[in-house]
Amino acid sequence: MIPISKPMIGDEEINEVINVLKSGQIAQGPMVEKFEKKFAKYVGTKYAVATSSGTTALHLSLLAIGINKGDEVITTPFTFSATSNSILYVGAKPVFVDIDLRTYNIDPNKIEEAITDKTKAIIPVHLYGHPADMDPILEIAEEYSLYVIEDAAQAHGAIYKGSKVGTFGDAACFSFYPTKNITTGEGGMVTTNNKKLAEKIKILRNHGEVERYNQIMLGYNFRMTDVEAAIGIHQLKKLDKFNEIRIKNAKYLTEHLEKLDIITPEEVGNVKHVYHQYTIRVPKRDRWVKCFEKEGINVGIYYPRPVYKQEFYRKMGYKCKCVNAEKASKEVLSLPVHPALTENDLDKIVEVSKDCSKLI
Ligand SMILES: Cc1ncc(COP(=O)(O)O)c(C=O)c1O
Repeated sequence: MIPISKPMIGDEEINEVINVLKSGQIAQGPMVEKFEKKFAKYVGTKYAVATSSGTTALHLSLLAIGINKGDEVITTPFTFSATSNSILYVGAKPVFVDIDLRTYNIDPNKIEEAITDKTKAIIPVHLYGHPADMDPILEIAEEYSLYVIEDAAQAHGAIYKGSKVGTFGDAACFSFYPTKNITTGEGGMVTTNNKKLAEKIKILRNHGEVERYNQIMLGYNFRMTDVEAAIGIHQLKKLDKFNEIRIKNAKYLTEHLEKLDIITPEEVGNVKHVYHQYTIRVPKRDRWVKCFEKEGINVGIYYPRPVYKQEFYRKMGYKCKCVNAEKASKEVLSLPVHPALTENDLDKIVEVSKDCSKLI
């Protein structure tokens, strides 16, 4: 079976983890601080704060910015539900805005009509590794005095108009879950240029303590461990290489698949897409899934329904006239694109795609 994702863990990560385990300092400590410094430098922000996951990075960013009960936060419904769940955690209301079908990211042209006097922030998601169209989003945010938090969980190293994602918003959140472009097992990171925000997030991730047993606000235990950071430090060194292989794999797939009756991924604008997912759109998707799986190719559907159609959200009354998100959720299909693929794997994916397209 060719898997849809595969973490790439080398001897460097393994040896560093052994060093940390032998050191006796295995919870948050010097490795986390080192990882934060290196990550901030890589992304190009002044600060980076490590957390226990991408979800807690989003939760802490919203808390630190001061998003509250009764506030509204605009986001995309075509994302993993962690994006909108984090808005609910702080008591605020997610407001869903439809996507651009070329990039699967929030459509900036539709944001303004969703703004009310309760709107406090926008969370664009750089889905599949393709940067969201940040310029118009930042313009709207400026005009209406809204905060911007980038959900960069799927886009480590992606570039929009010359700058890395993670540098645009008041804060940006990354995930290091094993399927992501780099991993720490579980883990997350907030990047920001705002010193006060970074300091507040550090306090909030550690029970609201400014120093040991001196608590000034309600906080959480959302810390990263030194074991995770040890993995992250070495993964980060390999990120650009991993991304180049993803891009090369994506190019190969597009070259060979674009003549079939499918829609291959687009790169829109001056962007570097880092292909967290290589996502095509196909008619009769169920048949394609069966066809790939029968031939030993593991494919993914990200996501089979927009967030507001999840039972939990539906029951709360969430709705959206999001025709593009609905269309995408019925047609998207992600093929393996990760750096562990061999040339044989890529050839097999192409051949099976051609065979499947004849059968369907
Ligand atoms: C778009 C998006 N946002 C947030 C998250 C949450 O990250 P984590 O799984 O590290 O909590 C994910 C990860 O799956 C994601 O894909």
